[in-house]
Amino acid sequence: MVRRPKSKLPNLGTTIFTEMTALATRHSALNLAQGFPDLPPPEGLVDAAVKALHDGIHQYAPMAGRMGLREWVCHHHSQQFGSNYCPETECTIGAGASSLIFGAIQALVHPGDEVVVQTPAYDLYAPAIQLAGGRCLEVPLLHEEGSWDPHALIQACHAGTRMVILNTPHNPTGTVCPPGFLDALADHIEPFDTLVLSDEVYGPIVHDGRAQVSIAGHERLSARGIAFGSFGKLLQATGWKIGWALGPAELTQELRKVHQYDVFSTGAPLQAALEAFLPTTEGLHHLSGLAAMYQEKRDRLLAGLEGTIWTWTPAEGGFFQVLDARQLIDGDDGHWAREWTRTHGIATIPLSAFHRPTTPQLRICFAKENATLDAAIVSLRRIAADHAH
Ligand SMILES: Cc1ncc(COP(=O)(O)O)c(C=O)c1O
Repeated sequence: MVRRPKSKLPNLGTTIFTEMTALATRHSALNLAQGFPDLPPPEGLVDAAVKALHDGIHQYAPMAGRMGLREWVCHHHSQQFGSNYCPETECTIGAGASSLIFGAIQALVHPGDEVVVQTPAYDLYAPAIQLAGGRCLEVPLLHEEGSWDPHALIQACHAGTRMVILNTPHNPTGTVCPPGFLDALADHIEPFDTLVLSDEVYGPIVHDGRAQVSIAGHERLSARGIAFGSFGKLLQATGWKIGWALGPAELTQELRKVHQYDVFSTGAPLQAALEAFLPTTEGLHHLSGLAAMYQEKRDRLLAGLEGTIWTWTPAEGGFFQVLDARQLIDGDDGHWAREWTRTHGIATIPLSAFHRPTTPQLRICFAKENATLDAAIVSLRRIAADHAH
């Protein structure tokens, strides 16, 4: 028998997403836990994928990604933000944003380096930093009373900070970096050697007239940072796992050293499909309508919960809405999220899974068909009614 190996990540168990999805399946509950849309991808994209397969695109894509797709990413950012990334040396296509974020952390964080991360946070960052031998300095995004504080992240950076991780729109809280945030961060870290890793996978999905925020549009931060995006999130095709990284050649070169021995290259026919679909009228139309489509879904969900004892701050971006359960329960949101999956047929993510809890809160993924959202509203209203005293 093989002896149990010494774990490199001893404190890590099954993720809450896997657990809640399994629980939802076991109890035939609505799964608003995991962050994937149940909406279909645009038809033209699926057609383009079928065509790519019939066209015989079955072998490895180039290590950095198909040039046409890299050109689209660079052109798209230059149109939106006036940036000037070179597709040859400053853009990399990988197996979802997550593989590139992971690769960038392995490539750029050295043993003992400190990385500043806002919590609650997407669950990839901390283990990736740990595997690189770095130290995570966690900065709470939430005040004790539950209000948001994005500026705490800036104040936490100091001369010894190797890297700061931004995520806007933010998973799980749905916050978007406010105007002036990037300038304030750039001013603060100007004297330091701090790198910026900007997770922008929900980038264009911003609500209530907010502007999309990207370090690509910020001269000083783009010079010392990498911006990450995800085709899966933008095209309701998370299973395709194709994303991009945009950063100066010096950083891209290091990232690619890890990327080429990690996945090397990803989904050649799917890259070809993206390359063909994105510049079409349907592709452009899809991207320009994305924010409005998701805002409508957020508003549908929140309108459905009006008059209950759930409370919330409307998500500023992305497709997650946090619901505050302090008027329903005391303490353990994890216990209740599991219980409500069993008893009320709805799976959500308790925010305590992401960080030390302040108040009991649940994350709801609203990237769902309206019928799913309406069924979720019924369950959430029942929960509220059952807990109203
Ligand atoms: C904040 C954040 N970053 C990155 C990812 C991963 O993106 P991809 O599916 O392109 O790897 C996710 C997916 O949930 C996410 O929420």
